[in-house]
This record gives sequence, C-alpha cells and structure tokens, in this order.
Amino acid sequence: MCGIFAYCGPKDNAGELVLSGLKKLEYRGYDSWGVACKNTDSEITIEKHVGKISGVDHLNKDLTDKPCHIAIGHSRWATHGGVTEKNAHPHSTEGNEIVIVHNGILENYEELKKELESNGHTFTSETDTEVFAHLIQENMSDGFENAFKKALKQGKGRYALLAISKDQSKILAARRGSPLIVGINEDAKEYFIASDIPAFLEHTKKVMYLDDEQMVSINDGIKFFGLNTEEEVQKRIIEIDWDIESAEKGDHPHFMIKEILEQKETLSRAINQEEDNILEAAEVIRNAYGTYIVGCGTAGKVGMVGTYLFSHIAKKHINFMFGSEFGSFLPFMKDKSLMIAISQSGETADTLEAIEEAKKKGVKIISIVNVETSTMARISDIVIPIKAGPEKAVASTKATTSQIAILTLIAYACAGKLAEGKKLLVETASQINDMLNPRYEGYIREVAEKIADIESMYIIGKDLNYPIALEAAIKLQEVSYIHAEGFAGGELKHGPIALISEGTPCIAIVAEDETKPHILSNATEVKSRGGYIIGVAPENNSVFDYWIKVPNAGMASPIVSIIPIQILAYELAILRKNNPDMPRNLAKSVTVK
Ligand code: G6P
Repeated sequence: MCGIFAYCGPKDNAGELVLSGLKKLEYRGYDSWGVACKNTDSEITIEKHVGKISGVDHLNKDLTDKPCHIAIGHSRWATHGGVTEKNAHPHSTEGNEIVIVHNGILENYEELKKELESNGHTFTSETDTEVFAHLIQENMSDGFENAFKKALKQGKGRYALLAISKDQSKILAARRGSPLIVGINEDAKEYFIASDIPAFLEHTKKVMYLDDEQMVSINDGIKFFGLNTEEEVQKRIIEIDWDIESAEKGDHPHFMIKEILEQKETLSRAINQEEDNILEAAEVIRNAYGTYIVGCGTAGKVGMVGTYLFSHIAKKHINFMFGSEFGSFLPFMKDKSLMIAISQSGETADTLEAIEEAKKKGVKIISIVNVETSTMARISDIVIPIKAGPEKAVASTKATTSQIAILTLIAYACAGKLAEGKKLLVETASQINDMLNPRYEGYIREVAEKIADIESMYIIGKDLNYPIALEAAIKLQEVSYIHAEGFAGGELKHGPIALISEGTPCIAIVAEDETKPHILSNATEVKSRGGYIIGVAPENNSVFDYWIKVPNAGMASPIVSIIPIQILAYELAILRKNNPDMPRNLAKSVTVK
C-alpha cells in the first residue's frame, strides 16, 4: 500500500533512478505518483501526476536538467484525499523547504492541522501527509533531525516517512508499523530506501533493516537512531538471496500468470524446507490452550482451510478469525494461547495489530510468511517461511498454495504423521507440474470465453473446499470485476439459490471423497434452476456443463482446486481488458487499517 523509493549517492541522475525504482513498486499503489529531486543548487523540484507510472519514460526536464544526487518518490494508493495531482506525494511546505513522502495513516492529522493553521501554515492538499511536512518545518530551528523526530513523536498511527530539506544534503527516514528497507552499495557509497526489496535488487542485494521506532539519516554515510533516544543504533549489513529474475515478469505478459505457473516449483520449495520448524510448530500447537489462526484477504481464506485441515488430520480444533475482526476475541487470549499468523507480505496492518495485541497478553506467535524480512517475521516467535519468492501481482496465487501446503504439513506433524503429509504433498506437486501446461490453460480460456460477459457468478464447495469457494470468489472479483460469491453448497437452499436464473454460471468444487454426493446434489439444485455448472473435479459428472479436471489429491484437494480458478480469473481479466496485475482500487500490501 503506497510505494516509497529514494536514492542518495554519487550518481547525478537520482530522479531517473527513483522513477525506475518506483515502477517496480507500482503493485503497492497506482492511482498517482510523484518524484522530488534535490539539485546541487539547494532547490527541490517536484513532479507529480495522476495515473500509473508504468508508461512513463522520463521525468520532466526541470527535474533532470541539473545534477541531482538525492531524490525521493512515491506511488500512491489513496487513503485521505481523492485521487488528484494535489493529493499525490511528495508533499511540501511553501517553496519546497521540506518535502516528504509517506506510507500509512497519520491518525491525529485533523487536530495537528488545526493547530498548524492557527500558527499560520497553509495547506494545499486534503491529505494527512502534508501535516508532517509542516510539523517538521515548525521545529526546524532545532535542526532537521530533531524537527523530524519531534514531528514523529506528535503523530499517531502506523507509517513510514521520508523527508528531505532544501538546505541539507541528506534523507531522513523513519518507520512505525509500515515497511521501509535500506539497500546499500558500500563500494559505490550508494544508498536506496524502499518499501520493498525488489525495487533496488538491480543495484544491490545488501540491506540494512530499519525497525519500528527507528530513524535513519543518509548523506555520504548512514546512521541509525532510536526515535526516542539520542544514541546511534548499530546495524548489520545483511545479504539477501533473491534473484532479479524472480522479481521480473520475464517472457510472461503479466506477473499474475507468471506466478500461477510458478506453482510448479513453489510448492516443492514450501514442502522441502527445514523439518525442525514444522515439528516445533506442531509441538507448540499440541501444548497450547487455544490456537487462533489470523490472516486477511486470501491469507484469511487460507486460515479457514487450516481449521478444516487440523480437524481432519490432527483431530484438533483450531480457531480462525480475520485480522480486522480479531479484537473481539482478545478476551479469550491467555498467556498459554497460540496465534498462527498467515501473510504473504508480513506487513498487513490488521494482522500485525492482532499479533501486537496478542503479544501483550503473552501469546506465542507462529507466522507463516513469504517475505522473511517482514515486520511479521521479525516479531514472531517461530517463523515458517513459505519460500515462494517475490509475489508481485495484487491477486495472491503462488503464496496461497504454499501457505496451504505449510498448514497441511503442520497438521500432519501434529498428528505425528509428517512423513505421510510430505509424501502426499510431493505427489500433489508433481501432479500440478503435469497439469500446468498450455493445453490446460487453453481449455480454461474456452470456458472463460463462454462466460466473459456475465454479470454474476457463484462458487460452491464443501468441507476443505468451502473456504476455497470463498477464495475463488475473491480471485474472480479482484481481477475480472465480475460479481462473484462463494458459498458452502449446503447453504444455497437457505437463500442464495434465489439468485440463480437461466445461464447463471456456478463453479462446483467437487473433491473425490465423502462430500462428493452432497456437493453434486447442490450443483444439481442449481442446474434445475437454469444454472450453468462448471465442475472443478477429478471425475466428470453428468451435472457438469463444463468440466475442469484436477488431480484426486485427498487432503491436498484445496491446493489443486484453486489453481484452475486462478487461471480462469486471469483469463477473464484479459478477455474483459482489465490489467490483472493492478486491479482497480486494490493494493498488494495493505499497510493501513
Ligand atoms: C491485500 C491483497 C490480497 C492479500 C491481502 C493480505 O488485500 O490484495 O491479495 O491476500 O492483502 O495480504 P498478506 O500480505 O497479509 O497476505
């Protein structure tokens, strides 16, 4: 949610470097963008626009004419203030004295703004962010660093903030709950600050982590400080093992299809990881007084799958709650309770808040995350990385199946049958490898062509595949913009069946197990009312108007069932001329509440 990128170093085209870094972060927000360049004449020049940054080749001449060694940029996902050029970042005080970019929400901005206005400050945007620029300016007589710290102390909420001043050759940056990472090329004395690592991977793989309540000052050197202390904080340089290719589209037209196809390998990577981690998690679950899975969006649906997996495989009751709803269940948390947080990014604000509240009660945290360097990973007691590699399309695909695989492994480990679980998943991974071929994609494209013009569709599932029906609906909504809803098949007759009319598409997810007759009979109920049934199943059935074959995978059925629906959502997006990588109104990582 909002991408930040900054450069400070000897190269004199900092603005252009920031422009190119921001393009790699566009998945975090793409309604508007902007760059600020500080040139050698102590001037800051700003360019901002409404719309996507991807099609922009160069910055305006007034940003590139003069040598520039310091630049900051931002790609926005609007929270406060509409999508306008004025509301786009960077924001500044008069004469561009102080210029800032910001990710997150300044919760008490209204009262701070009133105070500043009564002190003579004039605001030009409707954003919460602009308040920070004026707060910094208000205290500049104490020095840039102190003014920056004071502003942050006055602000409430979760955010990452970068500031530059017209008269100083440095960038100040701080974080409180929103991601910000420093990339460092020691030999060249180059520094990058970004919301996510892929943005600077082409320049360096060496990073320094900024923790919450810390700030960094970068000029021709780098210094970290606590926001509430005077002393410098010592940091290590860490070399990360991501490769550039995995963060790029390669020959694929979109990240979404690239990531769907990567499931051939990502699943194996998730399965073949440190057994100790899985066994330790299982042991903690066995001994916990109440385990709560927490996640948001797709990660939330994965969590729901988890409750079924633990029930069937480990005969264990595990609770699930969305991060944003978790507060209502806090009273049940005791110091012997356990939370399993699921997240691709490890930065989702609602999930992070649930973790923080649980931690206050002494609850132990296991996190199942993709970004191993994320806040969530850093504040958890046990981290199980899913090893899916960078996931950039907003709609989660490969992270989803890897997260389900990890939960499946832990459930088997809880039952003392880890080897059995591993064997099942290894077989499933090899079946997926066979399944994901161009013919299969073409076959799914055919059904997409048949239904591309419809307004509504429904997905039904039962048991393990009920949450998959919900996840399927999310996938279809996100990228095709078709009204899609998932239901437990048995619940249709209690209301939703009233929505079925002649030709309404309904995907029935049918596993080859004891639930099969039930879900088939639900599909028949829909068909009798004119519904067009698309069966996602290992075996064909006379009720299906169109059959999408998936392997018979037993407890791994959720993994194999969601993949063709991910492809269907992608194909529908293409046919309906939507950009599947950057769906409207959404952002990859939701770092605001
Ligand atoms: C956003 C994304 C979803 C994702 C959700 C949770 O809404 O668009 O794809 O499932 O956030 O993100 P997380 O990073 O915590 O898995």
